[in-house]
Amino acid sequence: MASQLAAAAVDIDALLASMTLEEKAGQLSLYASVDANPSANPAHLPPDVSRQLDDIRAGRVTGLFNGTSLAAKRRAQEAAVNESRLGIPLLFAADVIHGLRTVFPVPLAEAASWEPALAERTARAAAVEAAREGVRWTFAPMVDIARDARWGRGVEGAGEDVLLASRFAAARVRGFQGSDLAAADAVLATPKHFVAYGAAEGGLDYNTVDVSDLTVRETYLPPFKAAFDAGALAVMTAFNEIAGTPMTAHARWLQDLLRGEWRFPGVVISDYHSDAELVAHGFAVDERQAAKLAFLAGTDISMESGLYARYLPSLVASGEVPPARLDEAVRRVLALKAKIGLFEAPMRGLESPPGPPPVEHMALAREAARRSIVLLKNERGLLPLPKSGRRLALIGPFAGGPADLHGPWTLFPGGTPPVSLEAGLRGALIDPDLLTVTRGADAEAAIPGGIDAAVRAAREADVVLLAIGESEAMSGEARSRAEIILPPAQQALAEAVAATGKPMVVLLRNGRALALAGAVQDAPALLVTWFLGSQTGHAVADVLFGDAAPSGRLPVSFPQSPGQVPLYYAHKPTGRPAPREGEAPGFYNTRYLGTRHAALYPFGHGLGYGHVRYGPVDVGEGRLPWNGKLRIRALLTNDGPREQDEVAQLYVRDRSASVTRPVRELKDFRRIRIAAGATVEAEFELSRGDLGFIGSDLQPTVEPGRFDVWIAPSAERGSASSFELLPPAQR
Ligand code: BGC
Repeated sequence: MASQLAAAAVDIDALLASMTLEEKAGQLSLYASVDANPSANPAHLPPDVSRQLDDIRAGRVTGLFNGTSLAAKRRAQEAAVNESRLGIPLLFAADVIHGLRTVFPVPLAEAASWEPALAERTARAAAVEAAREGVRWTFAPMVDIARDARWGRGVEGAGEDVLLASRFAAARVRGFQGSDLAAADAVLATPKHFVAYGAAEGGLDYNTVDVSDLTVRETYLPPFKAAFDAGALAVMTAFNEIAGTPMTAHARWLQDLLRGEWRFPGVVISDYHSDAELVAHGFAVDERQAAKLAFLAGTDISMESGLYARYLPSLVASGEVPPARLDEAVRRVLALKAKIGLFEAPMRGLESPPGPPPVEHMALAREAARRSIVLLKNERGLLPLPKSGRRLALIGPFAGGPADLHGPWTLFPGGTPPVSLEAGLRGALIDPDLLTVTRGADAEAAIPGGIDAAVRAAREADVVLLAIGESEAMSGEARSRAEIILPPAQQALAEAVAATGKPMVVLLRNGRALALAGAVQDAPALLVTWFLGSQTGHAVADVLFGDAAPSGRLPVSFPQSPGQVPLYYAHKPTGRPAPREGEAPGFYNTRYLGTRHAALYPFGHGLGYGHVRYGPVDVGEGRLPWNGKLRIRALLTNDGPREQDEVAQLYVRDRSASVTRPVRELKDFRRIRIAAGATVEAEFELSRGDLGFIGSDLQPTVEPGRFDVWIAPSAERGSASSFELLPPAQR
């Protein structure tokens, strides 16, 4: 059988007919490889190679994930193909989140490029590296909308906005999967975590979610839909419950929506142990019931817990799970394996070590890193810096060394070591000796004498570069923070260094929006550098010294104060709205005492080395016919000294509707290069479909009426024009 399968395209019906209940349950059971990087997940069973191989030979395993050794994968595949009764190949999966050997910026950083095409290219490169090592399935992209910066996993997604996140979701799926899933370098994508994981109460990872169906449909589902429309054929359930039902057993979303409304043909996989966790949720009485509830709700594959292998055969035998349901799920898994050519070429990528990654991946990593950087502030044109003639003091816990450059979810050791800030800056300077490097403090603790040394270094320099922020361990899974501030030891360092009076450029490293305070907030220049991956130092040097201009825009709002979270621009108005910019604050309106009700740096904000002014928004006659289109234009003038890559953003507000609408919603954006002194027109088009929303009956709807519209450099800037969507009768 094994050789037949290897030789010919598989006959899934015949295969299914020949399978025992145990083998079927095995095709629905995925496990961490025994050589998986232990930092990825909580450990459950002591790794036991021979037991895993026995399980594979017995047909109890559909695939393995996060394995780090090619030889181990090869051995496992040989056991599956040559030593199991049916010879069904294993599918190797991995959390390839932002690169494999070449590490690209974390997904949140890439979202700051506002260039989905860039994320498509990095996902493609990651897929090429993964497939070369036999990995044909990634647990990415993470498409959760993240509006509470305390939540550690915001770093894995594309930020707070539905449209931006949807475009990145689709781009990443296209990148991972390529144009042909059967191609040797195609990797199956898995949008995750379905659904509303980012809405965890208090921004606390794994916590309860209680959002309305309307919010799920309007805010949390669209990026998944975009990913499926782009061809994703797998989806991972979320750890959280929504209003009393854990997502891994949520039939209404998994069955009625995914299979019913959306006709999703792919596989639904649990998160790591999330089926077994139904017991801890207090939703299932024991693991057998957990397996039954998860499976019947629509979760096809059980990740790591082994519950399906253990209980599905007896659940079918007892009649609690209909055999047809089991067959449906197994058929989906086998079809997926067939689709990627696994039956024809099970050893593809496993034969021999692939050698170093293609050289162009490093250039792409540098380009992506550069374009992910966001310049928040640049007083008196402090940046770019000259490459010579100035003494620079690079100070802070992230100044040197290879740590904290990659960011979370880089599980596969052995790539090229990342370029530190120090190495990148020295490499770019004409006289590298003009750079001194002083740690000053650890990420979360003072070091004896650290501040004194940093102050001495600052005094001897012309410009201070302060590399501060969050360590890698401060964002990612299970890394929620109660307060999104700079750790006190680093704040103290910043205050002391700033007190020297030297011009200071803050190079912020971060996996989330932070509430910047004191000397950091007041620094004359501020760059958000996230976790930029393999080429960090070079990319930061490119931007600091002006070989490249910064062109990123924030995909998340930076608050004035940590207590403002969740803070996101597309919030609803209230009956007593916050005062607008320039308006005198009343007392009885929506604001916190002592804090301006706005972002410190809003969604969409980012500067370049030019200076762009936006002209008024031209909507022509301001009438959008029901079946027509409306052109919306503004003139953008760069009156700065250098060219600028501007990201013109189109926002809309529906002034009144049967369901209240956000104060602004991003509808489109365009990157426009504007030469120094030039004026360029930014033009967009709107049609009725762009103005829809989810009605109170949970159906998509569009209502005629008046809309405000902005073409603006961020979600809190620009002045609005307005137009009318005419009702169908007036066509
Ligand atoms: C995470 C998933 C990940 C899985 C496997 C879980 O803890 O929530 O995003 O894909 O582990 O590593």
